[in-house]
Amino acid sequence: MAAVVTEGLLSQPRWLPAWLFYDAAGSRLFDQITDLPEYYLTRTERAILTSCGDEMIAAAARNDALHIVELGAGSCDKTRILLRAAVERQDTLLYEPVDVSATALAEAEERIQAEIPGVLVCPRVEDYTHQFTLDPPLHGHRRMVLYIGSSIGNFEPADAASVLRNVRSALTSGDSLLLGIDLVKDEGTLLDAYDDGAGVTAEFNRNILVRLNREFGANFDLDAFVHRAVWNASQSRIEMHLESRILQTVRIPSLDLNLCFQPGETIHTENSYKYQPGQAEALLKSTGFESEHLWTDDRGWFAVHLARAV
Ligand code: AVI
Repeated sequence: MAAVVTEGLLSQPRWLPAWLFYDAAGSRLFDQITDLPEYYLTRTERAILTSCGDEMIAAAARNDALHIVELGAGSCDKTRILLRAAVERQDTLLYEPVDVSATALAEAEERIQAEIPGVLVCPRVEDYTHQFTLDPPLHGHRRMVLYIGSSIGNFEPADAASVLRNVRSALTSGDSLLLGIDLVKDEGTLLDAYDDGAGVTAEFNRNILVRLNREFGANFDLDAFVHRAVWNASQSRIEMHLESRILQTVRIPSLDLNLCFQPGETIHTENSYKYQPGQAEALLKSTGFESEHLWTDDRGWFAVHLARAV
């Protein structure tokens, strides 16, 4: 973490990795974001899962039972829709949520076990972006990997392909991947989703500085940095930045850094890619999957793909 923070803050333009957002406070702020009126992603995907979840599970299972694995599971909120659909088709279901946050997984396990009898939860505290392996499927079972919530959108295109390639190599032919992706739409809707009226996304963005102050003894003045959300049309992504309001020097003693910020100078903290029609299919194909079904909402804002490992 020290090495990546140093590298990013000494780069021009400066950057910080988006995974730094997710300490306990950042994860809570992200949960609040998912309920904001402007943040259409979670609500839209949930509606698609609610109306088509049974169909998704049946298509993934074919005539077998399922073993469900979820990447970046977090609170598993929307997943419960799919778990309920799966236990209606089979008596018991093995569900392996994978996440870097042990706390989020423990809470999710408790909730699922209380609410959905028949689901056996086996949480895995792991960073799936690096190494990802799975045990062989139980006899008569197929694996279904859930990668929902547009998490793939926070990866650069080459990294997104490498994550999917890792997933594919952990699967056997006939297993499936359910991938939730956010689609390109009008700029106003996109910008509002990443710069909400209540300022929750701004607080989420600035929380990265709070974390550097706490963990590295930095002296970032939060009021001296403004949250900026920008639509980069040529890259098809929303970018989040923190912009220095003034000429200022920030000290990070434990990293031995003194950083001089010009007024208007930015730290790039996140990219959130929005997919064009056909782009997800191409990504899936290039990583060893065949897109088999596509579900979307009436406005065509969000897409859920069921892809088969070939
Ligand atoms: C987690 N990820 C899908 C969110 C997104 O929309 O890219 C993170 C986020 N950043 C700002 N608001 C939400």
